[in-house]
Amino acid sequence: MSGTPAYDHARLQEAAKRHLWLHFTRHSTFEDADVPTIVRGVGQYVYDQHGKRYLDGLSGLFVSQIGHGRAEVAEAAARQAAELAYYPLWSYAHPRAVELAERLAGYAPGDLNRVFFTTSGSEAVESAWKMAKQYFKLTGEPARYKVLSRYIAYHGTTHGALAITGLPDIKPPFEPLPAGGVRVPNTNFYRAPSFVADDITAFGTWAADEIERAILREGPETVAAVFVEPVQNSGGCFPPPPGYFGRVREICDRYGVLLVSDEVICAFGRLGYMFGSDRYGYQPDVITFAKGVTSGYAPLGGMVVSDRLMEPYLRDETSFLHGVTFAGHPVSCAVALANLDVFEKEDLLAHVRANEGAFRATLEKLNDLPIVGDIRGDGYFYGIEMVKDKVTRETFSDDESERLLRGFLSHALYHAGLICRADDRGDPVIQLSPPLTCTQEHFDEMEQILRSVLTEAWQRI
Ligand SMILES: Cc1ncc(COP(=O)(O)O)c(C=O)c1O
Repeated sequence: MSGTPAYDHARLQEAAKRHLWLHFTRHSTFEDADVPTIVRGVGQYVYDQHGKRYLDGLSGLFVSQIGHGRAEVAEAAARQAAELAYYPLWSYAHPRAVELAERLAGYAPGDLNRVFFTTSGSEAVESAWKMAKQYFKLTGEPARYKVLSRYIAYHGTTHGALAITGLPDIKPPFEPLPAGGVRVPNTNFYRAPSFVADDITAFGTWAADEIERAILREGPETVAAVFVEPVQNSGGCFPPPPGYFGRVREICDRYGVLLVSDEVICAFGRLGYMFGSDRYGYQPDVITFAKGVTSGYAPLGGMVVSDRLMEPYLRDETSFLHGVTFAGHPVSCAVALANLDVFEKEDLLAHVRANEGAFRATLEKLNDLPIVGDIRGDGYFYGIEMVKDKVTRETFSDDESERLLRGFLSHALYHAGLICRADDRGDPVIQLSPPLTCTQEHFDEMEQILRSVLTEAWQRI
C-alpha cells in the first residue's frame, strides 16, 4: 500500500458512477460493481485505490512503452510547462516540435521526412486520409478519394477514421459514414481460406492480390490509399506473411495508390524497431503514429510523410487546410523527446529484440491448454486465440463468447492481477502488449496467471 495516495474510496466510486463517462464501456455493469480505478504506476505495474498491484500486460492501451513512474519524463513535462506551456502549430513553430519532427524524420525509413502532429491516433489517420485527398487534387487526379483497409482492422473512431476501420459492429449507430471505405482481407493465417491454408506464402500472395483486385474493381483512378498496420491488432495480432508487404508495395506503385502504414501501436519499439515497417522491410508513403511516442506521459500523435507527398504543399499559395489546436503541444513534444532519450539510454529496441524469443516461448507453454487455439504475434505484441475445439478450430458462439469474455475472463484476469485485453471483435482473443522493459520474470507472471484463469474458463464452458 505504501506510496499509494489515500482516497475516500466510497466517495470516488459514487462520483465515478454519477459523472464519469467511460469509453467503449457498458455502464450497466457498474450497478452492482465498482468502477476499476487505477491510481498509480511504477515500472511494469499499476496499483488500484486499495493498493492492489497489477502487471500492466497491455501497457495501458498499447501505450506505456518505457513503463510507469519515470521521474525524468515527468520533469521534462514540468520544465516545458514552465518555459512555454502552449503555442499552436498554426503558422508558428516552437522548439520542441521542431526538435521532435527532426528526430522522428531521422528514425523514419527512406524519404519520410515531414511530420504533421496531431493529438491522437484517430486524428493521425484522419489527417492522412485528408492529406491524400488534397494531394491528389493538387496533382491532377481529383477522383482519388477511396481508402482500402483490412477486415476487422481498427483505425480509430472519428468519422473518417471509423470509415477506414474494418470492424462492422461499431459503425451502425453512426451511419452514414464518409464514403470511400473499402475492405480487403486481413492476414489471419489461422483462419485462412482452405485453398491457401497449408502455405503461408501462398496465403500472403492471395491476401495482397486481393488488394489489387479491389483496386481494379473500384477503379484505380478513384483509389487514394491503402491503410495497413504492420501487425494488425484487432482480431488478435496478425503478423504479415512472408512477402506480403513487398507485394502490397508493388501493387500500390502499379496503380499510383499511397501506402499508409498505421503504426499507432506498432511503432516505438513494440516490434523491436522504431517503426514496424523497418521490421518487415517495406517503405510506406505515410506512417501514422501516436501512443508509444510519449509512452503516455502526455497525448500526442501524428503522421510522417514522404518528401514526394509534401512537394505540392510547398508550392505557391497552397496549404494543407487542416489542423487541431493541441496538435504538437509543447509539453507533449518535450515528453516525447524525453521518452525517446530513455529508449536510447536503455537501448530498448535491442532489449525487445533480445527478449522477444523468450516472451514467445513462455507464452507458447500455454499451448498445452485445450482452450488455446493459436498464439501469434511478434516483438512484445501477442494475441492468444481461444477455441472450443483445438483440432477443428471451432470457435465459440456469440453467446458463449459473451459469457466467456465479458462474464468471466476479463474480471478473472483482473482479479488475478493481470491487465490484458479479452476481445471478441473478431474471434475471441486475449491480447498482450506489455511495457518494453519486461523481462523473464514478467513473462512468467503472465503465463502463470493466464494458465490458471484459462484452466478455470475451460471448466466453466
Ligand atoms: C492502428 C490504430 N490506429 C488508430 C487508432 C486510434 O488511436 P486513438 O485511440 O489515439 O485515437 C488506434 C487505437 O488503438 C490503433 O490501434
